[in-house]
Amino acid sequence: MKRSKIRNLLEVDAPEEIVLIKGWIKTKRDSKGFSFIEVNDGSCLKNMQIIADKSLENYEDLNSLSTGAAVSVMGHLAKSQGKGQKWEIHAHRIDIIGIADHSYPLQKKRHSDEFLRTIAHLRPRTNKYGALFRIRSELSYVIHEFFRNKGFVYIHSPIITALDCEGAGELFKITTLDLKDVRQKNGEIDYTNDFFGRGANLTVSGQLSAEMFALALGDVYTFGPTFRAENSNTRRHAAEFWMVEPEMSFCDLKADMDLAEEMLKYLTAHIMEKCRDDIGLFAEFVDKNLISTLENIIESNYIRLSYEKAVHILKQSESKFEYKLNFGEDLKSEHEQYITEHHFKKPVFIYDYPKDIKPFYMRLNDDGKTVAAMDLLVPRIGEIIGGSQREERLDVLESRMDEIGLSKKNYWWYLESRMFGSVPHSGFGLGFERLLMLLTGITNIRDVIPFPRTPNSIEF
Ligand code: 4AD
Ligand code: MG
Repeated sequence: MKRSKIRNLLEVDAPEEIVLIKGWIKTKRDSKGFSFIEVNDGSCLKNMQIIADKSLENYEDLNSLSTGAAVSVMGHLAKSQGKGQKWEIHAHRIDIIGIADHSYPLQKKRHSDEFLRTIAHLRPRTNKYGALFRIRSELSYVIHEFFRNKGFVYIHSPIITALDCEGAGELFKITTLDLKDVRQKNGEIDYTNDFFGRGANLTVSGQLSAEMFALALGDVYTFGPTFRAENSNTRRHAAEFWMVEPEMSFCDLKADMDLAEEMLKYLTAHIMEKCRDDIGLFAEFVDKNLISTLENIIESNYIRLSYEKAVHILKQSESKFEYKLNFGEDLKSEHEQYITEHHFKKPVFIYDYPKDIKPFYMRLNDDGKTVAAMDLLVPRIGEIIGGSQREERLDVLESRMDEIGLSKKNYWWYLESRMFGSVPHSGFGLGFERLLMLLTGITNIRDVIPFPRTPNSIEF
């Protein structure tokens, strides 16, 4: 007999049929002559209530079942007498698949996120994390749907690269050299005997690859893991995170911001509709303002503000910032929060940043001082998207690289793309985990990643 998912069973109209489910016990209550067993199979937030009558052949054996145990239940789906569920299963047969040791830590009570992080291998079995990881899955799906509907081509950019796209030096180096044999040449590590014959690292962004493909296929995107050895133990930085990076040819910064706004609205609306129950849990237990925050994301017109004006607003503000921002410096998290959450109370694009605080590939504006960069800030998170129009003019790009001291030799192929049919093009990177934090109200990035990697944390 074919196994049914609880999610599907809860939607059926006609209950009079025999069904088979498999899952884990949430609770078991024994009554006179029968037991109520709540089973969850991970397909949805709701449990299926099972009525186990003492006439069951192995009724005595069911005493060994406790929270966390795995069972297979065959029985008929019937209208439930109890509150809170439409159907229940009157068991004809219950097979014990795996008992749970009495040390099972997820007994029916609420646990702190900090504690659950220490049992990351078990936390997806809680209601909250089950809901979170179903939303994560649906969000991945709808990202592909959004771009596919618009005719974007999905590119698999490499995870191992030789370049530092962002130029911030936050690289995880990878090597097959035995570290005790590492030799130095002129004060630098000699990688000539290493696997690739030169230094290699985990990618910080798929952008440079995406640009090459946008210059061939028009509109493309990458969606994959990226790695940054930022030693900042914050609530919104992980060492391994996923990024969605669209890249469009014949596209300027304004159209880039238009796409970012349209995408964020589309993804948010989809999740609110398709993950109603799971989002409902977060709105009830994690962030009481979640629904209005998300409606604001979907319905508002996002502000577009130059860096210069943003700094002006910050300087004018009465608020006492821990760090007083000077013109020319990058906004800190407290400044981002102020602009989006307190001042405008909605998403804000800040564009045209000073060139010195942005990477080499961003297009120089006519003022010679700023670049066509944009960051999208959203309430509660701060920066969720970073993007730019790219420098398509070979001579300007080369002098910018010279200025920064980047080796043009290493970037020869990137530079060559500006020699053969170079066009204005733009793109951005959306932090996938930051979007999940926005959608669920979860405040720590460690709690939206199955097995998070952060400084001093790689247990699982
Ligand atoms: O602003 P970033 O550094 O932009 C880029 O990497 C560009 N190459 C993207 C592009 O134009 N194709 O990163 C993009 C986004 C940030 O806005 C943030 O949401 C997220 O990636 N992000 C991180 N998320 C989690 N942990 C980290 N350590 C992150 N660093 C960046
Ligand atoms: Mg950024």
